[in-house]
Amino acid sequence: MDILEVKDLTVTIQGKPILKNLNFSLKEGASHILFGPNGSGKSTLIGALLGLPSYEIASGKIFFMGQDITSKSADERAKLGIVASFQNPPEIAGVKLGDLLKLFLGKTPEEDFSPEEQKLIEAFRLTSFLDRDINVGFSGGERKRSEILQLIFLKGKLLLLDEPDSGVDVESLKLIASQLQRYIEQTGSTALLITHKGDIMDYIKAKYGCILLNGAFHCFTDPVSMYRDIKNYGYEECVACRRRKTGGWNFEQRK
Ligand SMILES: Nc1ncnc2c1ncn2[C@@H]1O[C@H](COP(=O)(O)OP(=O)(O)OP(=O)(O)O)[C@@H](O)[C@H]1O
Ligand SMILES: [Mg+2]
Repeated sequence: MDILEVKDLTVTIQGKPILKNLNFSLKEGASHILFGPNGSGKSTLIGALLGLPSYEIASGKIFFMGQDITSKSADERAKLGIVASFQNPPEIAGVKLGDLLKLFLGKTPEEDFSPEEQKLIEAFRLTSFLDRDINVGFSGGERKRSEILQLIFLKGKLLLLDEPDSGVDVESLKLIASQLQRYIEQTGSTALLITHKGDIMDYIKAKYGCILLNGAFHCFTDPVSMYRDIKNYGYEECVACRRRKTGGWNFEQRK
């Protein structure tokens, strides 16, 4: 079953079209790795799926678990289970990381974390960050660790992960990605993970590899060999070759 279906989606930013007539769907319970050149619109797509106000849906529809969510607000979509980690997590001065994590867990600021929650915060090496304002003065990798922990505590059904591995050291990558994989396995949730590198696939077991290229979304199986082909032959040839091999089968044409 498809958890997400995007039909003829056109997204504009300040009136300028960034994505035009995009069509694709995501399989429930599967992890999808999304590749694509810089500027191809990957982060824009995530913003539009989240319903962030600066991404205007000029036309088309988004269905989540069979429900048309195109006109739903970001809040409503988050409550349905669409959650994300950002490529450039913003600073939120005046809000403590610990308080935000408690909010995500449904706790008041006065309540304590459970021993299990404390263990996870410790594993993410964020215990000493709980009293700090979110991302203020955090290093690049610390921001990413904090983003992924927030995402796990949010308990979403569809995880949109915008370059969770960028600027992250090898040990932190192992930590972030294996915790994500554990969450995905335990909850059966679906992931769309954007990356420019292959290392994260050592930990995230992804069935599908997708490429956003020239305004079209192409999905095929085996993201590991796709990444190798992209490195060797480029995005265009990777898509063209897979279309030839699969007789043109992909997510767009499957119906
Ligand atoms: N606020 C904005 N105003 C004008 N153009 C924008 C704005 N935000 C994004 N764009 C443009 O939209 C295009 C897609 O940007 P986006 O950030 O979605 O790319 P991306 O695929 O995530 O790239 P990267 O791999 O570098 O993160 C780019 O050409 C970018 O310059
Ligand atoms: Mg981006």
